[in-house]
Amino acid sequence: MLKEDKNVRKLILDREGREGMRAAGRFNAQLMDEVRQHIRAGVTTGEIDRIVQEFTRDHGHTPATLGYLGYPKSCCTSINDVICHGIPDDTVLREGDIVNVDITTIVDGWHGDQSETFIIPPATEEAVAVTQTAFDCLYLAIDAIFPGCTISTIGDAIVAEAKRRGFSVVREYVGHGLGRVFHQPPNIPHFPDRRSRQQKLLPGMCFTIEPMINAGSRFTMLDKSDGWTVRTRDGKLSAQFEHTILMTEDGPEILTLTEHGPSKGHRFNGQP
Ligand code: MF3
Ligand code: CO
Ligand code: CO
Repeated sequence: MLKEDKNVRKLILDREGREGMRAAGRFNAQLMDEVRQHIRAGVTTGEIDRIVQEFTRDHGHTPATLGYLGYPKSCCTSINDVICHGIPDDTVLREGDIVNVDITTIVDGWHGDQSETFIIPPATEEAVAVTQTAFDCLYLAIDAIFPGCTISTIGDAIVAEAKRRGFSVVREYVGHGLGRVFHQPPNIPHFPDRRSRQQKLLPGMCFTIEPMINAGSRFTMLDKSDGWTVRTRDGKLSAQFEHTILMTEDGPEILTLTEHGPSKGHRFNGQP
C-alpha cells in the first residue's frame, strides 16, 4: 500500500469515533450558546474566557487551547482588525465592535472546534457586510462539498463569494482535520491550491471549515509582543465563522450546530 493511502486511512473514523466527535461537537455548541448570552458592550474578553473555562470544567470537560503550544487562555477572542488567535484580557467590548469567539473543547478525548463573529450594535455597514460574508462563505462551502469531492471545492466556493463582494480571503491560517488530535491532516485551505486539488474528502473524515474574510487586503501580521495575535496588515476589519464537519456517506454533517445561534440563511444587522 502507498504511504499516502495509509495516512489517509488513519483519518477515517469508525462508528465509535464518529459518535465521539458528535458528542464533542454537541457540547462545544452548547458552550457557544452559553457564551452568546454574555456578549454585549461593557464585557471584557477575559470575562468571556472565564465563562468558557468554568462551563467547560463544570461539565467535566477540558478547554483544548489552554496550554496548547503555550497558549495561555481557554478561547480566542479576536476584535475588529484581529483575524484570529486574539488572547482574552481586560479589553472591554464596545459598541460597533465585531468580535470572533473561537472555542475548542475536549470531550472524552475528542475535539469540538467552532467560532462565531458577534456584532456589538450599532455597527457600520462594512462591519455587517464582512461578518455576513464570512458566514455565507462557510455555508456555501458546506453546501458545495460531497463524499469524494476534492478539498479545493471548499476554497473555490469561498474565494468566488468573497471576490464577488469585494473582500479577500486569508491564506496563512487554514482549517484542519481533527479528532483525538486538535490539529491534524488534512489542511483545509480556504482558497484552492495544488495540494487541495488532489486530496479528497472521504466518508469518515472530520475537519473544520473556518474562513477568515478581510474587508481590505488578505495580508496578515503576527503580533511579536505576544506571539499569537494575528491582525490585518492594513488595519481593516476581519470576520470568521467555523464549524466542525463530519463527511458521511450521505454528505457533510455539521457537528457544532447551535440551538440559538445564527443558522444557514441568517441575515445579520448592525441595529441595536
Ligand atoms: N481554535 C483555533 C482553530 O480553529 C485554534 C486556536 S489555537 C490557539 O484552529 F492556541 F491559538 F488557541
Ligand atoms: Co477554532
Ligand atoms: Co479550527
